[in-house]
Amino acid sequence: MSKRMQGKTALITGGGGGIGRSVAELFAAEGASVIIAEINDALGQEVTESINASGGRAFFQHTDVTEPDSVSATIEAGHKEFGPINVLYNNAGGANQQDSTLVGVTFDHFWRTMKLDLFGTFLCSRLVVPQMQAAGGGSIIHTTSMTAFIGRPNRTAYTAAKGGILAMTRSMAVELADDNIRVNAIAPTRTLTERVKQKNRDNPERAAYGDSLIMGAAEPIDVAYAAVYLASDESRVVSGQTMLVHSDYRRGA
Ligand SMILES: NC(=O)c1ccc[n+]([C@@H]2O[C@H](COP(=O)([O-])OP(=O)(O)OC[C@H]3O[C@@H](n4cnc5c(N)ncnc54)[C@H](O)[C@@H]3O)[C@@H](O)[C@H]2O)c1
Repeated sequence: MSKRMQGKTALITGGGGGIGRSVAELFAAEGASVIIAEINDALGQEVTESINASGGRAFFQHTDVTEPDSVSATIEAGHKEFGPINVLYNNAGGANQQDSTLVGVTFDHFWRTMKLDLFGTFLCSRLVVPQMQAAGGGSIIHTTSMTAFIGRPNRTAYTAAKGGILAMTRSMAVELADDNIRVNAIAPTRTLTERVKQKNRDNPERAAYGDSLIMGAAEPIDVAYAAVYLASDESRVVSGQTMLVHSDYRRGA
């Protein structure tokens, strides 16, 4: 059986760590050439070397997804290395402890979150799409969060940014359908990256949320499996959708 992403070139933002790394590794294992667009050089280089050493094809370029020149340079370098980009996985983003309540969050933090999560997703899409249009199509996958659906306290900036991504998924899907470009999103539940595991060790109450879900917390590979489906031609009629990698119901509830 042929690999599910054979012949495709995929750009993964934030592909050096956490969920992004798992997605990059699985895309490469499924035959894709992967461009690791990562701001942390040590992480980006490490995952690239590891994929290449295990027989895959990976290329690293230092990238800040909030900076147009940086993203353009990565797209150009990636194209030179592996040809036109068929898959864009917009992953770079995240919540942090500076997020707060509506009244507590600083204006600076609000805009920083908007810039990384929402503008970064817009920017990478905006700059990759002309290449996909010229190549006759592609698949774009955004990263939103369960938080965009349920609302959570102390996550004002993050929830707003991830909600914006949800809406942008639908508008981009409609706008780009005639170009044969599909646009979907993944909404992970609590996912046990090293960063999240450390937070759980520091705060056992926090860990209880993942444990309370009927299927438990997700591992990064669980998100990567969903990403391969949306990136590959298996999902050729799927666009404008958000896939929840989540089990919703609580034990005993
Ligand atoms: N882990 C979870 O529980 C969870 C849940 C829901 C949604 N998500 C979303 O999934 C995505 C990945 O989350 P994660 O937990 O793997 O995060 P992470 O912090 O572990 O990894 C993010 C990666 O992005 C890189 N990065 C940060 N800023 C960047 C920039 N400006 N340009 C390029 N790269 C940059 C980081 O260096 C890092 O390698 C995020 O969008 C996050 O909001 C995560």
